[in-house]
Amino acid sequence: MLNHDPVLSDEEFAIFRQFIFREAGIDLPAGKRSLVQSRLSKRIRHLGLDSYSAYWQMLRKPTAHAERQRAINLLSTNETYFFREPQHFHWLEQEVQHLRDIRPGTVRVWSAACSTGEEPYTIAMVLAETLGMNGNWRIYATDINTKVLAIAKRAVYSVDRARRTPPHFWQKYFLRGRDEYEGMVRVMPELARRVDFSNLNLLHCNKFHQGEFDIVFLRNVLIYFNEATKLEVLSNLCTRMKGGGHLLIGHSESLHKLALPLTQEEPSRYRLDASHIRGGVK
Ligand SMILES: C[S@@+](CC[C@H](N)C(=O)[O-])C[C@H]1O[C@@H](n2cnc3c(N)ncnc32)[C@H](O)[C@@H]1O
Repeated sequence: MLNHDPVLSDEEFAIFRQFIFREAGIDLPAGKRSLVQSRLSKRIRHLGLDSYSAYWQMLRKPTAHAERQRAINLLSTNETYFFREPQHFHWLEQEVQHLRDIRPGTVRVWSAACSTGEEPYTIAMVLAETLGMNGNWRIYATDINTKVLAIAKRAVYSVDRARRTPPHFWQKYFLRGRDEYEGMVRVMPELARRVDFSNLNLLHCNKFHQGEFDIVFLRNVLIYFNEATKLEVLSNLCTRMKGGGHLLIGHSESLHKLALPLTQEEPSRYRLDASHIRGGVK
C-alpha cells in the first residue's frame, strides 16, 4: 500500500519549533525534524488534514486552546520511572529526618515536571517510610502536559516501570494486578491520595501559589531549555522555595554559570541561600 502521509518541510518544522519554544520553552534541536513529524502525523491523519501547514492554521486560531494543548502534549518528552537516579532518594530520606528533628511543621516537596507520576509517588514512598503514611508532609506535582497528568492520577503502571523500586516497598506501596491487569501495579490509594497533581507551565511557575517548598525536584526537564529559559525558570522557582531549601536537578543537567542564589552541594543538588529575598522575574 502507498503511504500518503504528508512530509514536514523545513519551513513547517521551523513553525512547530517556534510554537513549542514559545508555549513551553522547549528548544528543539535542528535535527529533530523526523521526531516532530512522527509525533504529529497520527493527529493530522485523524483530523483528515493533508499537510502540517493546515494543522498549523488550525492551531493558530485564538479559540484553539484545546488543540494547542494537545500539540504540546504530543511534542513534550515524558520518559520517567520509579526510583530514577536513586541517590536523590537516599539523600531525601536523610533530609526529611533532619527537617523533622530541627523544626515542627509540614515538610513540603514539589515535583515540578512530574510526567506520569513515578517521581512524586517515589517521593511519597520515601516520606511515608520516614515520617509515616499520615505524617506531616505534602507533595505537589505539576506538569505542562495534561495527558501525563491523567495517567499520573490513575496511578496504574506496568511492572517494568517499577522494577527499580526496593523489594520491601513493593508489598507496602503497590497492589499487584490480576487477570486483565496482570503485569501491572497500582500505587496504594492511601499513598496516591497524598500527592496533589495539577497542570502548570514552568514558564509561569512564579504563579504557583501553593506556599513555599523545602525541597523541589526539577529533574530531566532543564535539558530541553536554553540558557535564558533556564535562568528565567529557575529565578522564578527560587521564589517558591524556603530559604535554605533544596533543589534537585537531573544528573545530566547543569546550572553552570547561571547567576542564581543557589549553592551547589553535590553535582545535582543545590541549596537556596538562606538570605535570598523573594521577588523573581516578572
Ligand atoms: C523527561 S520528563 C521528566 C520526568 C521526571 N522529572 C523524571 O526526572 O523522571 C520531562 C517532563 O517535563 C515536562 N515539561 C516540559 N516542558 C515543561 C514546561 N514548560 N512546564 C512544565 N513541564 C514541562 C514534560 O511534559 C515532561 O513530562
